[in-house]
Amino acid sequence: MMTDVGRIGTAALGEGGPEVGVQGLGCMGMSFAYGPTDADASRATLERALELGVTLYDTADAYGAGDNERFLAPFFKAHRDEVVIATKFALSIPPEDPTRRIIRNDAPYIREAVEASLKRLDVDVIDLYYMHRRDVNVPIEETVGVMAELVREGKVKQLGLSEVTADELRAAHGVHPIAAVQSEWSLFSRDIEARVVPAARELGVTLVPYSPLGRGFLTGSFVDADQDLTADDFRRRQPRFTGDNAAANAALLEPVRSVAEAHGVTPGQIALAWVHQRSEVHDLPVVPIPGTRKPTRVEENTAATHITLTDEELALLDPIAAKVAGTRYADMTFTSAGRE
Ligand SMILES: NC(=O)c1ccc[n+]([C@@H]2O[C@H](COP(=O)([O-])OP(=O)(O)OC[C@H]3O[C@@H](n4cnc5c(N)ncnc54)[C@H](OP(=O)(O)O)[C@@H]3O)[C@@H](O)[C@H]2O)c1
Repeated sequence: MMTDVGRIGTAALGEGGPEVGVQGLGCMGMSFAYGPTDADASRATLERALELGVTLYDTADAYGAGDNERFLAPFFKAHRDEVVIATKFALSIPPEDPTRRIIRNDAPYIREAVEASLKRLDVDVIDLYYMHRRDVNVPIEETVGVMAELVREGKVKQLGLSEVTADELRAAHGVHPIAAVQSEWSLFSRDIEARVVPAARELGVTLVPYSPLGRGFLTGSFVDADQDLTADDFRRRQPRFTGDNAAANAALLEPVRSVAEAHGVTPGQIALAWVHQRSEVHDLPVVPIPGTRKPTRVEENTAATHITLTDEELALLDPIAAKVAGTRYADMTFTSAGRE
């Protein structure tokens, strides 16, 4: 199995922006959503990622109601000049009711959120500040106007948006350059390719695919979330990972396995290689942020940046997404696809 083939390459974060490792690290699971965590293993994962050239670290104020930002703060302090810190505002999930989503994009909320994130992260400036979800009651120009003020005030360096439509991205970019759009993109989730990706390419925006491993499903590490994952695991509420949908979707992984065998690598590495290759296929910088809490997995995941899939292999893998049973979220109104 291919695991560690050295440091990864780089890609630009937004037009004229800094170079970051071509694969980032999703840190959400270290504090939130995916069952039991091990703080020591997570810390070792962060250090190993940095050694391998990963520089973009992804968190959000919503991950564990601030816990994830607090957990990452000592690592960021130890390596402040080597890391690009990305965090997000707009979403709060009440710990007493994790099924609820409160979304706010208004000026007073953003101002409060940025101060709280700066404090928890224990930094003077956030490198990349994302609007996590869109509150349709606030014009996006107004929201990005406030975010642009944060740049002028030196609290934030670059701006990002998550789960926005192509029209929202264009409107936002007209107010202030947007460095990155973060949206779900994987062998199972290709809805952004129709409009968001072409808009990002045209505007010089880097795509940051989240859940590039289909939240772990594409690695084969679980099949039915209800049976294989703990009671508090968020994936039990995602329609595609339970019951008949999960069984049907597991059967879709056969071509991923056969391509993996041909390369002598894991199915997860093929899933990641496919996402990395979107950069060449769609002609824009792509920096996926697979999430893991295990050093050996960060080695495996970064090694996938060195795999190139042939046209024949892409032809086997590309049709999978259209066959997936069940939506990405139970409520798709919070996604770009739900508003396109
Ligand atoms: N903007 C948004 O709305 C949004 C939404 C979701 C996520 N995100 C961000 O995107 C990041 C990544 O997404 P994600 O964590 O949801 O999904 P993902 O990266 O597709 O998958 C993560 C899952 O895969 C497992 N995994 C990772 N590498 C593996 C390997 N080599 N072999 C087997 N299993 C492996 C992880 O388990 P272990 O941790 O136990 O290794 C975890 O359960 C998050 O951490 C978060 O920062 C953003």
